[in-house]
Amino acid sequence: MKILITYTSMTGRNEKIAKYLADYLEKNDADVALEQIIDTDAYELSEYDAVIVDTYTYNDGEVPEEAQDFYEDLADVDLERTKFTVLGSSSKGHIHFGRAVDYFTMRLNSSNGEQVADSVKIDQDPDEDDLKRVRTLGDYVMKSLK
Ligand SMILES: Cc1cc2nc3c(=O)[nH]c(=O)nc-3n(C[C@H](O)[C@H](O)[C@H](O)COP(=O)(O)O)c2cc1C
Repeated sequence: MKILITYTSMTGRNEKIAKYLADYLEKNDADVALEQIIDTDAYELSEYDAVIVDTYTYNDGEVPEEAQDFYEDLADVDLERTKFTVLGSSSKGHIHFGRAVDYFTMRLNSSNGEQVADSVKIDQDPDEDDLKRVRTLGDYVMKSLK
């Protein structure tokens, strides 16, 4: 059972979160691939049993620029019930808090993915409670693969 975590991060928060989640999944014996969204081919997602997208939000609620090709391509793929969820650190100090998480969640659902954990939005740096939510998201993904 192979899980892909694909992330994008400008100032490092989402990179840290993605690595934290990868470590947690690996400690629970999952086979994890970790890569950046800019290197991820949307047409190859159905090769994974589960896909986790981790993104920040930019410029008035937008998907970050380097993630836009991937986001566009997702509209053309059939995820064939690939299990997925989405998470991301963004900031309540901006409008449309974490909207890129919502955009990816909607798109992966419309492309026939199967959402197996509620999406998680984190305000800036994760606190203990946020990290617990990240682990719970991971638990749901692993449970869905058993
Ligand atoms: C110019 C700029 C615009 C931003 N716009 C938004 C936004 O519209 N909505 C939001 O929730 N966060 C917004 N953010 C906050 C980032 O998403 C947040 O700082 C996030 O934690 C960055 O993650 P990273 O460290 O992985 O790059 C913006 C940040 C910057 C610098």
